[in-house]
Order: sequence, then C-alpha cells, then structure tokens
Amino acid sequence: MQIQHNISLKEYNTFGIDAKAKHFVSIAAIESLKSVLQLPEYQKRFILGGGSNMLLTKDVEALVLHINLKGIEIVSQEDTFAIVKAQAGENWHAFVLWCLQNNFGGLENLSLIPGNVGTAPIQNIGAYGVELKDAFVSCEALEIATQKTRIFTKTDCNFEYRNSVFKQELKGKYIITSVLFKLTKNNHILRTNYGAISTQLELMHVEKPTIQEVSKAVIAIRESKLPNPKEIGNSGSFFKNPVITLQDFETLKRSFPEIPNYPISSTSIKIPAGWLIEKAGFKGKRFGDYGVHEKQALVLVNYNNAKGIEILKLSQVIQETIKRIFNISIEAEVNII
Ligand code: EPU
Repeated sequence: MQIQHNISLKEYNTFGIDAKAKHFVSIAAIESLKSVLQLPEYQKRFILGGGSNMLLTKDVEALVLHINLKGIEIVSQEDTFAIVKAQAGENWHAFVLWCLQNNFGGLENLSLIPGNVGTAPIQNIGAYGVELKDAFVSCEALEIATQKTRIFTKTDCNFEYRNSVFKQELKGKYIITSVLFKLTKNNHILRTNYGAISTQLELMHVEKPTIQEVSKAVIAIRESKLPNPKEIGNSGSFFKNPVITLQDFETLKRSFPEIPNYPISSTSIKIPAGWLIEKAGFKGKRFGDYGVHEKQALVLVNYNNAKGIEILKLSQVIQETIKRIFNISIEAEVNII
C-alpha cells in the first residue's frame, strides 16, 4: 500500500476529467483500508469506486481511496438459486458476465452498466425494467469513523429509484466492501417486456431467450444509444427522470400531446428527461470539447479535454431551459464534486 501525491484522476473517472487527487491510495485488502482510515494526517478522504457516476469540477484536496478489493465467490447454493458474494472493486459488467457464464440469472438486464460492484447499491443502479435491489441480499460496509464492519440488509438500504440510504442519511459514513446477491440457477425470470428488449430479441430472431441472449440484447441496445466511456467520456444518464403530478402532466399534455410518460402512482407520473432535453433542442449539440450525446440526450459527454466546470455549466443551462419551457425541475443523477 503506497500513498501517492498529485495524481491525475483522468483514468479513474469515466467522464475522463483531468482533475488531480492531492493524495491517492489504491486499496486491495480490508486490513489496509482499516489502517489508512486510522492515519491522522489524512483526515479528509474521498472514496472512489469505478468513477462512473461523478463529475469532477475541481481537484480533490483529500486522500482519494481507490477501492480495489477483488474476488467473487459462491457462498451457498440450493437447487434453484445461488448466493454469490462479490467484492466492491470488481468491475460491474465483468461480474455480470461471470454470473452469465455460471448460468446465474437476475443481473442480465444490468449488463454493460459502467462502474464497480461496491458502488452499485449507492444509487441502486437500474436499466431495462430491473434494479440492483431485485437481486440484492445484503452488503458489508466499513464505518469510516470506527472501522467497524456492518451488514446492511435490503431493508436497511432503503432502496428507491437511483437512491439509497448511502446517498441520504449515511452519505460519506460507510465504505461498501462487498455485496451479496441471490441469483437463479434455473427457471430464470426473464424480464423482456421493456419495449426495446423485445424488439431487439426479434431482430436477433430469438423467440425463447436465455439469460445470455437477454444480456446480448441489452448490450446491443446500450451500444447503439450510449457512448462507450473508453471512447467518449461520460457518466451515463446525467439527470434523473423527473416525477411530476398528474395535474401538471395534464397541463403539459395540452401543449405537448406526444410527451412520453410512465405512471408511478394515481397522482404522479415519470417523464423521460431525455425527451425534454431533446425537445428543448440540446440533443447532439457540441460546444468545443463537450456536449449532449447525439443518440441519447440524457447523457452529457466529454469529447476530449473538457473541464468539469464546463460540463456543470452546460447542465445548469439545460436545467434552466427545461424549467422555462416545461416548468419541470430536473435533478442531476451524477455526483458533482
Ligand atoms: N427519449 C427521447 N430522446 C432522447 C432520449 C430518450 O425522446 O434523447 C425518450 C425515448 O424515446 C423514450 C424515453 O425517452 O420514450 C425513454 O428513453 P430510454 O428508454 O432510453 O430510457 P431513459 O429513461 O432515457 C433510463 C435510465 C438509463 C437506462 C434506461 C433503460 C435514468 C436516469 N436513466 O433512461 O440509465 O439505461 O432507462 O432502462 O433512469 C444511467 O443511469 O446511467 C442510465 C443509462
């Protein structure tokens, strides 16, 4: 374990922002994590996982702890399901592929989501009708203040749409070190009713899909819409999809009868922010080295050497414009640092 100084974080965030860490350490064992947390000279800390859900707008004046704990194991299994534990530093998609190779079902719709296993519960990652919480059993986390381990059950985590206790009251207090999943071994529950998946499976001429084929369909859809962070820096959806009241929706519908919408309850409706941003004219707009992705307006991109602050400003202009046109406030999904 070696503490480095003035390290560029460009390779450690999928937006590819060239901000610096004042101090940096990569953590490959829980014991090193505990010792680092006890160092009196590094009381300001910043926990870094896959760096896939943040926008760095300045240098990080702290000790960056890069959580690099590795390992996947089958903890137990019965005829129909397996309990699998993955360490926090495992790459999410590599873990999904490992599950598919073992024919363990439950995470296939979450294929190709950037980031690491340990950060997936923080925002309850989700795509194509599935959320992390659907296969989640519990996670192990270290309390930063005491270095004590605590197990969080699904109930403890208070999972919601792109939200959990780790983004709310326990923000900055715990470091997730591993996650336990319950996965099916047979009689897999296929979730293919999300429009794009069934269309893609038809294109692939697959009638009775396996979990591996569902994954292939999801990968094809994502690759067609979402930029690969290795080629164009991005953090996936920059904004959350807003939820508005039925009353506001009725008003909007008079001006925009074609507005896509997903009822949440009898009084509230979710509106795709991507549609609002496209309608406001931002889709595919490029400003120097940054802009709005041409195929999915919810994604802001760094073409090369954009500054975090430039992308933040663009996001604010988008928010103000959406407010002005639609009277809807859209909230950032990524963490602004
Ligand atoms: N739409 C547009 N223009 C756009 C983008 C979307 O009109 O530029 C419309 C689409 O036509 C469709 C609707 O918006 O009617 C929904 O689009 P899509 O299926 O692409 O999903 P989304 O709501 O934009 C959410 C997640 C994605 C996830 C997809 C698929 C959020 C904030 N985003 O996007 O998650 O992959 O659903 O499940 O909930 C991420 O979190 O990083 C992410 C990529």
